[in-house]
Amino acid sequence: MNVLIIGSGGREHALAWKIGQSSRVDRVFVAPGNAGTEVDAENVDISATDTAKLISFAKQNQVDITVVGPEAPLCDGIVDDFSEAGLRAFGPSRRAAQLEGSKVFCKKMLRTADVPTADFHTFEDATNAERFINERYGETPEDVPLVVKADGLAAGKGAIVCGTQEEALLAIEKIARSREFGTAGDRFIIEDRMSGQEASILAITDGQTILTLPPAQDHKRAGDGDTGPNTGGMGAYCPTPAINDEMLSWVEESVLVPTVHAMKRSRNPFRGILYAGLMLTPQGPKVLEYNVRFGDPECQPMLMRMKTDFIDVIEATLDGRLAEIEPLQWDPRPSICVVMASEGYPNPYDKGHSIRGLEEAAKVEDVKVFHAGTRMVNHDVVTNGGRVLGVTALGESVATAKLQAYRAVQCIRWDGAWCRKDISDKAITQQI
Ligand code: GLY
Repeated sequence: MNVLIIGSGGREHALAWKIGQSSRVDRVFVAPGNAGTEVDAENVDISATDTAKLISFAKQNQVDITVVGPEAPLCDGIVDDFSEAGLRAFGPSRRAAQLEGSKVFCKKMLRTADVPTADFHTFEDATNAERFINERYGETPEDVPLVVKADGLAAGKGAIVCGTQEEALLAIEKIARSREFGTAGDRFIIEDRMSGQEASILAITDGQTILTLPPAQDHKRAGDGDTGPNTGGMGAYCPTPAINDEMLSWVEESVLVPTVHAMKRSRNPFRGILYAGLMLTPQGPKVLEYNVRFGDPECQPMLMRMKTDFIDVIEATLDGRLAEIEPLQWDPRPSICVVMASEGYPNPYDKGHSIRGLEEAAKVEDVKVFHAGTRMVNHDVVTNGGRVLGVTALGESVATAKLQAYRAVQCIRWDGAWCRKDISDKAITQQI
């Protein structure tokens, strides 16, 4: 069969690499892809949001299954559009994707389904929100543990963490007055800020059966020790001891099952990857947010460990027969992914730097270098984004996997390349 993967990041390279290993798959196309998918698959020069062209390509090239990587096309309804065109696409419908596309939808659903999450209030205008802040915190302006979140997609920047009344008012100003996130700020929520470790629990569901994947942990801040600005994710490892088996069962029963049932009851059945971003609070895990696709970079170490033919799982999800498949098989070894980034990221950065040492890095045992912001120029791989590579390794222990990943990182160089040095240390030192 032929498979089309939509997207151009490290997640999509990992999907193309894994799906391309199936004996049932003849050709893997990636639209638009990157320099890594150009080697491991076939790139197609169509943007991830140009649905009409993607449909036309899929028809002309006998694509049997399309796998959608990023959230934007899912929230725009690409799966519905493919389905109307008689094509099979893996991921939630537009209505189900609101779990990520609308924070208000998500929080209301969590409340209806009685899933643990922070208390929240919804607003449509700045004046009411400012009054709420001033009335509630006027006497304690220096202790305002809140998060103000734009309702819609805002490229990962729409959640503003606040500690004081001034910061909360500034966040409202940004979202609802100066409209920094455009229509994503038409509505917004103010929720209590939670504290603790974060963990990512992902599951594959056909709307009935839920297959939970091994827990992972992302590293969202730019600096070692979780300091500095937020990024799209500077590294991840899987499994994480932050979530033990007992806690994982609890999350399945108290978070994933009620969510999938609530979506079904509201006639928005969820099919695809359901990703619960959890805060492990002293009162137990609570949902920070839902995403409706694989995490990036969590996908890279997860798929590195998956032994089951992933296209079989995708097909069973599309057919609504996940209950019938064999349990998923995993490499028992842990895996870690270290993201190498461009100088300046997550602030503005240059592109077009030649990347050296990729061949040497590929020779390090149990390592796969997934590309993200890269492109091929005259057979030369150059930087083309903020997060450039996801150097991913397996090891007998987390410490060994970390050693291998950083060994490969040391082989790779370009002007301004940098990475965090402490990916997975929370697992190694048990600072959880
Ligand atoms: N790793 C965070 C995300 O994919 O949203």
